[in-house]
Amino acid sequence: MIESFEELEEQIKDCHKCKLCNNRNNIVLGDGDKNAKVMFIGEGPGADEDIQGIPFVGKAGKLMNQAFKGIGIKREEIYIANIVKCRPPMNRNPEQDEVDACLDYLRTQVLLVKPKIIVLLGSVAVKAILGKEYSITKIRGKWIEKKDIKYIATFHPAALLRDEAKKIVFWKDLKEAKREIEKL
Ligand code: URA
Repeated sequence: MIESFEELEEQIKDCHKCKLCNNRNNIVLGDGDKNAKVMFIGEGPGADEDIQGIPFVGKAGKLMNQAFKGIGIKREEIYIANIVKCRPPMNRNPEQDEVDACLDYLRTQVLLVKPKIIVLLGSVAVKAILGKEYSITKIRGKWIEKKDIKYIATFHPAALLRDEAKKIVFWKDLKEAKREIEKL
């Protein structure tokens, strides 16, 4: 069992477990406070993340940062990771074999960080973490507790770039998350 982030970084650094390794510039493991009580989980790196090796630094990340600022969530106080650690070509959704190959890294991150709250960003994160039977449209904004972790799902910030109307809902869900964070 992996017991530290150093060990995890060592294990992942030459990962060839799936085809996403073929085109990557950087593995994007995670960012933020490794002892955070709150974790955000996205889908997979985009072009900017692949170049910088940091999650959510592109357009979607900037939009999320704006919402964080407005709501009072400090990015440096949370931990952010993705379902897959390497960029899917053309930003397509990760395929099932890629999710399966990568998910143990995220499981290890969750074990090491020990968050009390996990915010799932978008359908890929919802299905990979909670199970295929969960649908973002049915569960977003609602709390689901599993093994001492409270989960809340909301839209992926990239969806807000395509559909402005989702911004209001996204803010509402993040405010709900913030209310719960304040109780910790
Ligand atoms: N979208 C994601 O899901 N993750 C990132 O890191 C960036 C964009």
